[in-house]
Amino acid sequence: MNNKKIKLNKNNKLRILQVSDTQDLHNPRRAMLKMLDSAYDLINPDLVLLTGDNILGNHLDDARFGTRKVIKTREGSLRRLKKAIGHILKPLEERNIPFAFIFGNHDDMNAFSKDEQADIYMRYSCCIPPYDPKGDVGCGTYNIPIYSSDGKSVVFNIWMIDSAGHDDEGKNGYEYVSKEIVDWYIKKSEEQKVANGGKPLPSLMFQHIPFPEITRMIMEIPQKEKGCIVRDGRYYKLDPKQARGVLSEYPCVCKENFGQFNALLKQSDVKAVAFGHDHLNCFTGRLGGIDIIQTPCASFRCYGNDERGVRLIELDARDGEICYTTKGISYFDIFGKGALSQLRFIMGADEREKQKYALLFAAAAAAILPICLIHKKRKGLKRLS
Ligand SMILES: [Fe+2]
Repeated sequence: MNNKKIKLNKNNKLRILQVSDTQDLHNPRRAMLKMLDSAYDLINPDLVLLTGDNILGNHLDDARFGTRKVIKTREGSLRRLKKAIGHILKPLEERNIPFAFIFGNHDDMNAFSKDEQADIYMRYSCCIPPYDPKGDVGCGTYNIPIYSSDGKSVVFNIWMIDSAGHDDEGKNGYEYVSKEIVDWYIKKSEEQKVANGGKPLPSLMFQHIPFPEITRMIMEIPQKEKGCIVRDGRYYKLDPKQARGVLSEYPCVCKENFGQFNALLKQSDVKAVAFGHDHLNCFTGRLGGIDIIQTPCASFRCYGNDERGVRLIELDARDGEICYTTKGISYFDIFGKGALSQLRFIMGADEREKQKYALLFAAAAAAILPICLIHKKRKGLKRLS
């Protein structure tokens, strides 16, 4: 278990990489693994945050093709679970990158509780434990103090918030931030304020499912226009006064609201909240003085679009005050839009079935055509002789 402090580096910066919705199985898509490997090597992050739906927990036992259950025992299922988690964590472990994680709605839709899954994550030496030892709000809600580069003082904080889960049988789910968690946040935030000389400790917050207020950044428009989305026959886009980026699906938000956003406004320690869950959306905006960050999926097994990738958030404390910058880094930012990159993307991505079949058909036609031509030519020569 990694108990070392997360510190600003010698340039008083910290590179945080948000990796969300990797959502894959024991036999993951190579395109995603290659993308993550390259992202880690290119960006060299100081901390990686896995923000939920780290595995496709509800399809652990399925056959390679289709959804027929082929694993019938808990032991068999556990083996697949460990493999699925291992594929995501081994690249971090190999590079000695500290990581933290929260769960999403897909992680524990199976026979294994979040606590049982957390035990698997925590066997990796770079894992930051997903519990607040004094908190009692369960697995997946905790904070990570960020220390000054000399390690003497806490200068920043990261909140990791649980927004989804299931009962022990993986059946009855919840998709919200509970009142207990909101109360825990307020209490902890107050404690940090006292320890910080009466000033709110600047923070970032990460959670899987967006809180409902995120929809305030979306506006309905009277008619269809380029880049808008359609929902129930009505058209929507990001409100340009509040947000910019890509909106390709209407946000699927927490189903209940226990006042989390209002608590953030009141405590005024959180500079930005970063979400996952909505695979197709990649945008940033500002709501009531708090920055909102939406990160698309990294998964190639589940639905996605050309935004597929990761997000870099870089803290910078050089001028005495900590500020941050952020940018989404897509698969195509990493590999470019060359033919090989496009081909790997199409063949790896689940929703590109039509293009896959078109490519396979073209390849088969290209292979068969010369044979047909030779055959025809030989027939012609026989007739002549
Ligand atoms: Fe999700």
